[in-house]
Amino acid sequence: MENLNNYNIQKRAVDSIAKTQQIPYSPVAFEKGEGAILFDFDGKRYIDFLSSACSANLGHGNKEIAQAVKAQMDKLTQYTFAYFNTAPPMQLAEKLCSIAPGNSPKKALFSCTGSAAMDSAIKVARAYTGRNKLISMEGAYHGSTYGALSVSALSLNMRRHIGPLIPEVYHFHYPTDEYNWEKCIEEIEHAFSYYLPPDEVAAIIIEPIAADMGLIIPPEEWIQSLRKLCDKYKILLISDEIQLALCRTGKWFATENFGIEADLYVMGKALGGGLPLGALIGKKELLDCLEPPAHTFTLSGNTTVCVAALKNIEIMERIDANKLSIEKGNYLKDKFLKLKKKYDFIGDIRGFGLSLGVDIINPSTGKKDPKATSKICYECFKRGLILIFLNKSTLRIQPPLVIEYAEIDEAMDLLENVMQDYSNGAISDSVLNEIKGW
Ligand SMILES: Cc1ncc(COP(=O)(O)O)c(C=O)c1O
Repeated sequence: MENLNNYNIQKRAVDSIAKTQQIPYSPVAFEKGEGAILFDFDGKRYIDFLSSACSANLGHGNKEIAQAVKAQMDKLTQYTFAYFNTAPPMQLAEKLCSIAPGNSPKKALFSCTGSAAMDSAIKVARAYTGRNKLISMEGAYHGSTYGALSVSALSLNMRRHIGPLIPEVYHFHYPTDEYNWEKCIEEIEHAFSYYLPPDEVAAIIIEPIAADMGLIIPPEEWIQSLRKLCDKYKILLISDEIQLALCRTGKWFATENFGIEADLYVMGKALGGGLPLGALIGKKELLDCLEPPAHTFTLSGNTTVCVAALKNIEIMERIDANKLSIEKGNYLKDKFLKLKKKYDFIGDIRGFGLSLGVDIINPSTGKKDPKATSKICYECFKRGLILIFLNKSTLRIQPPLVIEYAEIDEAMDLLENVMQDYSNGAISDSVLNEIKGW
């Protein structure tokens, strides 16, 4: 049998997988997992605070999903729904339309990833409105396909050497401490008066919570003002729910936290219960504006993946995952607030449900502290907590919704020990060579 361990997997991965696909965080390779617990190839146990980047909302190794997948694969793994129906894509489309916000009759359009689902939203918005201009926000990440990448504005490495991207994309500020929401809306109105004819804009694309910018929560007035602008100029509002839908924020869709309805909801990540799946949900007349085969993929609406997705949603409904997300999120937030009283390098703590952003700052300047953040995350890996950071200095706290309270306590004790060692100067600068992030 092949001898696999963390070290040789990392070494062979560097040799065999294109480097663009992996962000350098830690040389750990996972072999198995159950719930919020993971084991690496050296047999070491970890608590997962990342949920495979929100693609494992029900945790790891879910037996019910595995059984449903096996039963479907034993019958028929997949038949391409580009030509013939199987039942699961239809059943999943009906289910997604029933949980999506609003009462108007809806349809679903499937893709194989979140990024491709974002591309489908762009296609639908342009085709339905007959307009080609798109507005999205600085700092947004909507995916890696050309369309999704063109409306993203997060990292130069994502855009270097690959242009031209799709044209007619205009980026505006997302509300932050430096840019208040009124200023952000004024910027768009200013553009509408001077150089960006609003009747040529197909869609405004938002993340209801700016995930990769550091899980920044905008004031609801900002989202509501965007909704009004969209209504005024007949522009479609697209909500990127790829990371935060499916109970992550204590609601089925993150936009529901802001009291508005979007025209199109883009889904991915946790949707397939760990298998690749993306979907666009919206009013029937919107989703039917494209003729076949304008957005079809051989493997989208994959029979077995749709079975996994249906089981995933069935379990979320049964365990009341929204309630769990809120209760555990509050429990965790309380623990961070207590830590903040002890450690002055903990800045803002924010979030809905089991999705928290915790800033690490330099206490004397109040500014971001990327070095401190890297050291804390690296030391957490070493001691058994999977924790990464966003935008250089925000801890990304998104454990599986099924994490046990005892596991939260264990993880937070571990994190507190790491923070104590950091504040004693006991974590050496040398770890900064290991962990880079992006
Ligand atoms: C908010 C958001 N949109 C889009 C994407 C792209 O999704 P995928 O990687 O599944 O294509 C991501 C992935 O990180 C995301 O977080």
